[in-house]
Amino acid sequence: MAVRLVVTYEVGFMHFDILTLFPGLFAGVFEESILKRAREAGLVTIALHNIRDYATGRHRVTDDAPYGGGGGMIMKPEPLFAAVEAVLGEQLGSVPVILLTPKGRLFTQRVARELSRQRRLLLICGRYEGVDERVHRYLATDEISIGDYVLAGGEIPAMVVVEAVTRLIPGVLGDPGATFEDSHAEGLLEYPHYTRPPVFRGHAVPEVLLSGHHAQIVRWRRQQALRRTWEQRPDLLSSARLTDEDWAYLRQLQAEQESQAGGNCNTLGHETEATDLPTL
Ligand code: ADE
Repeated sequence: MAVRLVVTYEVGFMHFDILTLFPGLFAGVFEESILKRAREAGLVTIALHNIRDYATGRHRVTDDAPYGGGGGMIMKPEPLFAAVEAVLGEQLGSVPVILLTPKGRLFTQRVARELSRQRRLLLICGRYEGVDERVHRYLATDEISIGDYVLAGGEIPAMVVVEAVTRLIPGVLGDPGATFEDSHAEGLLEYPHYTRPPVFRGHAVPEVLLSGHHAQIVRWRRQQALRRTWEQRPDLLSSARLTDEDWAYLRQLQAEQESQAGGNCNTLGHETEATDLPTL
């Protein structure tokens, strides 16, 4: 009797609505590479909405001077409320309305995963000095910042969110395991990758990767991920899922560092204060 092995891949879907004053900024990013493929495969649809189309009056004004004085212009609430209500229609109230703003919660891989479970997201790109507070309070259901720096607007942050979320949608990446080993997926930075040639300009690929010894490779990769995180982002260690063996390796790294002259210089040579391990 023939046994048929059926492999099924889970496939997801997501619709993004993006409200922006500059829809042209998105062309290149959405028409190349992963987002292009995801759209062509019907896994993702993206609708760009020009906020100016929802402004009224002859000049379709979308910004105004701040009450109380001060520099810069503020995005008016009326066009944003009108746009969100028209775009979402009956789905208003059941779709996350995300304002991209440096005042938002920090966008991390965990947030990307959380958003990837939705079927539809609406992103509002702020511009100018800011957005009227009533949009923050009564229209947005979530506020996201992509980092502690200020950009000219929310368009690039929206692209970041769309790409990070899209690659987590089942079916978008060829290899379903690919997102599992990502940097940050397990709370650690990813281990180093190498490909051919085995020696490039005198720099050889680590022997263990050529050994074919799977268990040793897994162990080496784990240690490299731990080392890299300890060197570059020690703040991540306290919330990463670590085994007793991981902690033993980290203590060994710390002991090596302490025995070296200079004490608090890590292997990259820049000063760190945070390489002390969180206490167990
Ligand atoms: N708009 C301007 N700067 C931003 C940031 N860092 N994150 C999200 N939106 C922004």
